[in-house]
Amino acid sequence: METLYYVIVLCVISFVVLVLPNDFSIADTDLQRGSECSQADYSVKGEESERNLQSLLDSLASNVVDHHGFYQASVGKKSNKVYGAVLCRGDVSAKNCSNCTLESIKVATRDCSKSRDVAIWFTWCFLRYSNESFFGVMESTAAAITNDTDFDESYVVPEGLEFMIGIAGSAPEQPYMFQTSVLNSSRYGMAQCTRDISRVDCRACLDSQFSIFRNVIGNKRRWEIYGHNCFMWYNDYQFYSNVTTLLSDARKTSCGGIFEIVVTIAAFLLVL
Ligand SMILES: *[C@@H]1O[C@H](CO)[C@@H](O)[C@H](O)[C@H]1NC(C)=O
Ligand SMILES: *[C@@H]1O[C@H](CO)[C@@H](O)[C@H](O)[C@H]1NC(C)=O
Ligand SMILES: *[C@@H]1O[C@H](CO)[C@@H](O)[C@H](O)[C@H]1NC(C)=O
Ligand SMILES: *[C@@H]1O[C@H](CO)[C@@H](O)[C@H](O)[C@H]1NC(C)=O
Ligand SMILES: *[C@@H]1O[C@H](CO)[C@@H](O)[C@H](O)[C@H]1NC(C)=O
Ligand SMILES: *[C@@H]1O[C@H](CO)[C@@H](O)[C@H](O)[C@H]1NC(C)=O
Repeated sequence: METLYYVIVLCVISFVVLVLPNDFSIADTDLQRGSECSQADYSVKGEESERNLQSLLDSLASNVVDHHGFYQASVGKKSNKVYGAVLCRGDVSAKNCSNCTLESIKVATRDCSKSRDVAIWFTWCFLRYSNESFFGVMESTAAAITNDTDFDESYVVPEGLEFMIGIAGSAPEQPYMFQTSVLNSSRYGMAQCTRDISRVDCRACLDSQFSIFRNVIGNKRRWEIYGHNCFMWYNDYQFYSNVTTLLSDARKTSCGGIFEIVVTIAAFLLVL
């Protein structure tokens, strides 16, 4: 298992610059958790693809909230075509989803301006775009974040693992492939998949993350795994919100329009 972990991390590094913070935050704040920028490409990126990318990012930012926190789109033709997607963590508010999306776009534009294949992870959202279509294609690329010395009590470890395996099994069956769960009011877990992949692939993605990182996260008290298509979180306090405004249908009818306007204005300001 350990070998597999290194193999995967190495092939990621061989074609992108992967940046992961090594600190582990205890509070549920919206931090940047990692980024992948493909090798800078100065040759082909012309004005047209820049324009397409900008309009793609604007579209992601203005549509993600109204699509229950997951939106994908493509803009342009042939070699100038760009594909993008954004996913918000299922429990965050519409406002925080929108803000997180704008923040991740800012980071992508700042840190990966010459890259055609970009992934930005925040605690509350995940942004990805590329000149090649990735829609519906499950990739098990992932990175785990934990504190190497923050061990869990040994009697909790086997139960905690079973608990997370259970969530990995049931999250794919949820309407939005997002699930939170509690173990004995003392451990909290959450899992989520991007909604372009099938439930079967969601399951395979979570299972694969779990087996790849089992030795890294297995005895830890808190950990997070961030991938291209699926995500897992484990902690000893309730880090997620109980209210899932983003995933509920009620929100859309009552205030969807307002959010849309706010998001559009915010996206417009970002362009200026
Ligand atoms: C938006 O997110 C950034 C980065 O997480 C944070 O610093 C900022 O305070 C947030 N703004 C709002 C209005 O929530
Ligand atoms: C995407 O960009 C990469 C790097 O610039 C290039 O090698 C590849 O051929 C491009 N793919 C498409 C479909 O244009
Ligand atoms: C959004 O995030 C902020 C921290 O950035 C948090 O204080 C707030 O409760 C969150 N929820 C809403 C609805 O804004
Ligand atoms: C990691 O965990 C240890 C032990 O619980 C703690 O002392 C240390 O402050 C933690 N480090 C970070 C960066 O949170
Ligand atoms: C959960 O509760 C059961 C029954 O009370 C107990 O046997 C078990 O050790 C607890 N597990 C954890 C992780 O606290
Ligand atoms: C969420 O709901 C549970 C049970 O209803 C409650 O015990 C918990 O304190 C709530 N947590 C938050 C963060 O609101």
